[in-house]
Amino acid sequence: MKRKNIDQIKSLESKPKIVSIFSEKEINMISELFDALPEKTYNKKQNIRKKAWIQNYNKELDKIYFNKLKDALGDFKMDNLKNETGEDFLGLFHESFSPLPIHVDTGFNAEDVIYKQVITPLSSVGDTIFFKKRWYGRSTTFTNDPKELNFKPKPDQNDRSNAHLGDKEFDINLHKKYLTHIDIKNLRGMEIEYVYNWKIGETLIADRTFIHCASSRIKNKKIGLTTFTKK
Ligand SMILES: [Fe+2]
Repeated sequence: MKRKNIDQIKSLESKPKIVSIFSEKEINMISELFDALPEKTYNKKQNIRKKAWIQNYNKELDKIYFNKLKDALGDFKMDNLKNETGEDFLGLFHESFSPLPIHVDTGFNAEDVIYKQVITPLSSVGDTIFFKKRWYGRSTTFTNDPKELNFKPKPDQNDRSNAHLGDKEFDINLHKKYLTHIDIKNLRGMEIEYVYNWKIGETLIADRTFIHCASSRIKNKKIGLTTFTKK
C-alpha cells in the first residue's frame, strides 16, 4: 500500500501524552458497558477477547465519551470499524490473557489521514511499550519468523513484516524487564520511545504511526478500551 497524505500525518504527530479526562464514575460506566456488550471476536491464537463499543447501549455515556475525546484531540473522526448499518463503533474493548506482539494499527486505507489512538485502561497491571520507529504502511505485525513472514493477509488482516529490524542489539535489561514474550532477535535495532504503565483513571493518547506492543507484565488478564481516530 502506498499511503497518501504522509506529510499531513507527520505534521499531526506528537509525543505520547497521559490525560485524566474521565471521572471515577465515568470509568465505572465504561466498565459496566463493557460487561453488557456482546462478544465480537475471540482470537484463540492471540488469546484475546474483543468487544466493540456499539452506540445506544448507554446514550449518555456515548455523548460524554465523544465530547471528552473531542476536547482532548480537537476535530477527529472515529476509525474503529462500523456496524451493519454503517454506524461507527466508538472503540474496541480488548481483554487479553497474554501480551500482544509487536504491531502497528495504521489501518487499511491509503487515503486516510490517520491520527491518534486513545487507550483507556480498565485494569491496572500492565504496560504498553511504544518504540521510536514509526510505520506508514498498512496495519502490520512485525516478526522475524520466516513462516509468519510468508502469511498472505486478507484485506482486513495485518501484513507481516521484518522491516522494523536494524543492526543494534536490543538492551538485555529492558528485554528482561518488559519484553520476555518477544524473541530478543525480533527487537534488533529497536529502541523504546515510551513505556505507558497502565493506571485506572488515566487515558493515553499516542500517534497511530508508533510501532508498539504490550509488555510481558500481565497479571491474569488486561482489559482496555482503544479508540482509533483519523482526521
Ligand atoms: Fe495496538
